[in-house]
Amino acid sequence: MAKLAFIGAGRMASAIVDGLLAKKAFLASEIACYTASGTSAAQLAQRTGIRKAENLDALLTEADVVVVAFKPQHLAGADARLADLTAGKLVISVLAAKTLSRLHRTFPKARNVIRTMPNTPAAIGAGVTGWCAHQPLLPTDRSTLSALLGAIGLEIEVPETQIDALMAISGCGPAFVFEFTAALREAGVAAGLERDRAEKLAVYTMLGSARLMAETQSEPEALRNQVTSPNGTTFAGLQRLAARDFRGMILETVLASKARSEELSRDT
Ligand SMILES: NC(=O)c1ccc[n+]([C@@H]2O[C@H](COP(=O)([O-])OP(=O)(O)OC[C@H]3O[C@@H](n4cnc5c(N)ncnc54)[C@H](OP(=O)(O)O)[C@@H]3O)[C@@H](O)[C@H]2O)c1
Repeated sequence: MAKLAFIGAGRMASAIVDGLLAKKAFLASEIACYTASGTSAAQLAQRTGIRKAENLDALLTEADVVVVAFKPQHLAGADARLADLTAGKLVISVLAAKTLSRLHRTFPKARNVIRTMPNTPAAIGAGVTGWCAHQPLLPTDRSTLSALLGAIGLEIEVPETQIDALMAISGCGPAFVFEFTAALREAGVAAGLERDRAEKLAVYTMLGSARLMAETQSEPEALRNQVTSPNGTTFAGLQRLAARDFRGMILETVLASKARSEELSRDT
């Protein structure tokens, strides 16, 4: 009997299903999925062994938890029967920029609605997902949510008023990190390295540095200082970053993303 239902079976739904099965949080027989065209649902079902439902009724009748994982623009045209079909169930949305009040309009009879904001490293189980709930969570729903989001990485509860800020840091952040890594690679090439070698050095430097921060739980500034001797090589580079107001540039970057997220959340 399916307990967990996915409406949408694209990249985000696949990442969650893969994580849940890898961590044995759910059995494949407890998960079902449905999409309008059926294309990606068939692919996900075939690859993972979960059930592909033929329609929304078949998907939702037996489900207790419903993950909404289609594109945000599909919410406006969503099947009106979803209100009744999700009555009494826990609804978890991964739709970017769809507020709890907007979600509640489509799922008014759900026992609770959760708004989540995952990021792309979720695809390898290394994501960060911020979330907020429409109502205080029942302890059993809290456990379900932990299992579900824990399958794709770290989960952090935030008040909904902070979701746009979280979006700018962890939602958009991977793109900023990728851009910084590409810039490091290009600089490596300019400094005399072959492109492949420069890319490998840049990527593994990012990876190792991130792991060092996470595993030692040291402040980034403390770890930076450990690499920096007075008037040494790192010091020379950091001086250039400061001269170009690197922190000011990152601040502008994050505030621009946050402002855009606020704008998109208003266009519900
Ligand atoms: N990818 C990310 O890193 C990421 C990060 C944060 C949040 N999100 C959120 O995750 C959601 C899904 O993104 P994605 O990257 O997984 O997109 P995706 O790979 O394009 O998948 C979209 C899915 O929606 C299905 N679909 C389309 N119309 C539908 C309808 N009317 N009813 C039911 N299903 C429908 C598609 O099915 P068919 O094509 O088979 O019809 C497909 O399975 C988005 O809301 C996005 O905001 C994604």
